[in-house]
Order: sequence, then C-alpha cells, then structure tokens
Amino acid sequence: MIRIAVLVSGGGTNLQALIDAQMRCTIKQGKLAAVISSSPDAFALQRAKTAGIPGYVVNRRDYPSNEAMTHDLTKLLKELDIGLVVLAGFMYVLTEELISAYPNAIINVHPALIPSFCGEGAYGLHVHEQALTYGVKLSGATVHFVNEQCDGGPIILQKAVAVEEDDTPQTLQRRIMEQAEWKLLPKAVSLFCEGRLKVEGRLVKILPGV
Ligand code: GAR
Repeated sequence: MIRIAVLVSGGGTNLQALIDAQMRCTIKQGKLAAVISSSPDAFALQRAKTAGIPGYVVNRRDYPSNEAMTHDLTKLLKELDIGLVVLAGFMYVLTEELISAYPNAIINVHPALIPSFCGEGAYGLHVHEQALTYGVKLSGATVHFVNEQCDGGPIILQKAVAVEEDDTPQTLQRRIMEQAEWKLLPKAVSLFCEGRLKVEGRLVKILPGV
C-alpha cells in the first residue's frame, strides 16, 4: 500500500472525490494517509476529519516564503512515510526541495487543457476567466506529474469539456470538475499506486493492468 498525502488550500471537492473513490475501493494499492492544508480554515480539513483521515496544517502565513513552507512540508511528508503527494487545489508553487524529494511522485490536477491557461497566476477561477475571455469552445482538465516547471510536468490524463455560450467562470468550473477533475484524479492516483505509470522523458505510458 502506498501512503498518499493530499495537499489542499480550500474547499476540497477533489479531495472528496478521492475519499469517495477510496470508499468504493477504486484506489487500488494506495491509502489516503494524510491531508495537509496551507490554511487552518480550509473546508477540506473538515472533509478529512469526517472521513477519519489525519489532517495537518502547514500555514503559508507562518512562513516568509514558499521555500520555507516547502522545507517543513518535505519534512512532514517524510516523517509520515508518504509515497505519493497529490496536489488537489493546493494554491502555492512548491519549490525544488520537495520536487527533488519526490521525483515523478507528485501529482497535480489543473482545471484546463495544458498547455493552455496554465503557469504562474493560472489557478482556481482565474483559469476559467482566461478560457472564457479567450473564447475557446473546449476546455477541460489535466492531471500531470509535478516537476520544476510550473504546470509543465509530464501529462498523465486529460479530458475535454465543452464551453457553453452562457458560461460564467463559476458554471464552467463546476462542469469541468464534475465531468473531468473528479474522475481523472482518482483514476491517476490508482494508476500510480498500481505501478502502471511509466515516465519516459516527457511522456507517460499507461501500462496494462493485471
Ligand atoms: C480545482 O478546480 C483545481 O483543479 C484547481 O483549484 C480547484 C480546487 O478545488 N487547481 C488549480 O487551479 C491549480 N493550478 P477543490 O478545492 O474543490 O478541489
């Protein structure tokens, strides 16, 4: 069993999708072992508590920089014997210390089809504002490994979602969550834990199940 830590900053609907998948036993060979929040007020911590998963706070406000916060995060993840780190609505860019401690073992969910609408400043509702302003007819979600380039790591899974004429950032966000994020993230996490993701340079191959 791979011990999974989920890093969150807000509502935690993607965390909930992982909890629901665990309840349905569709995360094979992995166990949600910790939820770590960058804010003590994140509703995601309540979801963890209800599910009986230990919750931790590494409060960004207690640190002068992302580097300093990442240092403590890395220490905590090692203490907890974590094998897979999942960023599920985690709103800070992790620095090199954590990325090099978990090569191809940090997974992020991004609410657009990378390489569109991603990178610094593209998070949460901003991503959907950018997509609507640009006028794309399709957006979607991407689950990818995290490397030193913001939103630039190898892509694991993607799913396209239609943009409707009267969409607001909120309605588009919700549709992308329902149709893409909440499905792709648990699937990618299970594939990782089953040892079925093979990274070759930028490419991720999905190996057949047994
Ligand atoms: C999700 O849409 C996630 O893809 C996005 O923030 C939202 C968090 O919602 N993440 C990013 O924008 C990262 N760049 P949640 O807390 O309900 O899962």
